[in-house]
Amino acid sequence: MPLIKTTAMFKKAYEGGFAIGAFNVNNMEIVQGITAAAAELNSPVILQCSAGARKYANSRYLVHLVRAALEVNDIPIALHLDHGPDFATCKSCIDDGFTSVMFDGSHYSFEENIAKTKEVVEYAHAHNVVVEAELGQLAGVEDDVNVSAENAHYTKPEEVEEFVSKTGCDSLAIAIGTSHGAFKFKPEQCTRNADGVLVPPELRFDVLAEIEKKIPEFPIVLHGASSVIPKYVKIINDNDGKLDDAIGIPEDQLRKAAKSAVCKINIDSDLRLAMTAGIREHFKAHPEHFDPRQYLAPGRDYIKELVAHKIKTVLGSEGSAPAIMALVNEY
Ligand code: G3H
Ligand code: 13P
Ligand code: ZN
Repeated sequence: MPLIKTTAMFKKAYEGGFAIGAFNVNNMEIVQGITAAAAELNSPVILQCSAGARKYANSRYLVHLVRAALEVNDIPIALHLDHGPDFATCKSCIDDGFTSVMFDGSHYSFEENIAKTKEVVEYAHAHNVVVEAELGQLAGVEDDVNVSAENAHYTKPEEVEEFVSKTGCDSLAIAIGTSHGAFKFKPEQCTRNADGVLVPPELRFDVLAEIEKKIPEFPIVLHGASSVIPKYVKIINDNDGKLDDAIGIPEDQLRKAAKSAVCKINIDSDLRLAMTAGIREHFKAHPEHFDPRQYLAPGRDYIKELVAHKIKTVLGSEGSAPAIMALVNEY
């Protein structure tokens, strides 16, 4: 099975009311943990690399790690560039064998974003690669771009139709209240439920519904969609870590999004927390250990556990691999 584009994945996800998990990968254990969970649940998966990941690991290592995962696991996998900052980075990934790239022009003016996205789309489509674009701005940090909460703004539904038709992009990342990182909301922005748990403000499902009306059946992407699972935060804090007030997107809201036009849900921070929890827990229990296999294995185990949980309770993509594989030749 070769690496596939996201087209068949999104078609099935849209029709079936589920979403494909897009998980950020930076090293072998992360790739292994994610794909082991997806294979066990017969789920498709998108493995995505940021510019920072390519710099850290070297793009060729990441491409080959993902290809190795494909040899070992019989599931549909797409290899995607996350937050491509410019044409050169997108081109380099396309030339490297990625099947999907994101050009993130969200910080440019509407016109510049269209022009730059279009340039990437033309090169990508000529090489049988699909393109994710972004309209609207999330708060948080991505590589070198730091968008403060005041500067972040929701996607304007009245702009999406023109943007999609002029750029020819294949999917669209939108801003409806998610943000990057493990500290998405300040405690004072949240209310407390009956159990004393902090609940952040609802995502703007009204904006999502307006967007869906303007571009029916078009695949929508949700960035910044980690839920910051308390279990892993607690393990980190109980084992000499210090993560105060880490707050993510409640999983019921993500499940609701996955049932709508949202076909791709991006998760990175939750992976980081799970891996860190496994490693910290191991070191606290075994301070005498120094073989990396001893402490990376529990990190990988927690990643597998986390991704299985996401597939079953948030994404809803369990068991959809065969239907996507059957459709792949058409796209
Ligand atoms: O959206 C950002 C992702 O979490 C990637 O983060 O640029 O630190 O690799 P990174
Ligand atoms: P999180 O920081 O919420 O995991 O978002 C990841 C992301 O959007 C990667 O592009
Ligand atoms: Zn993102």
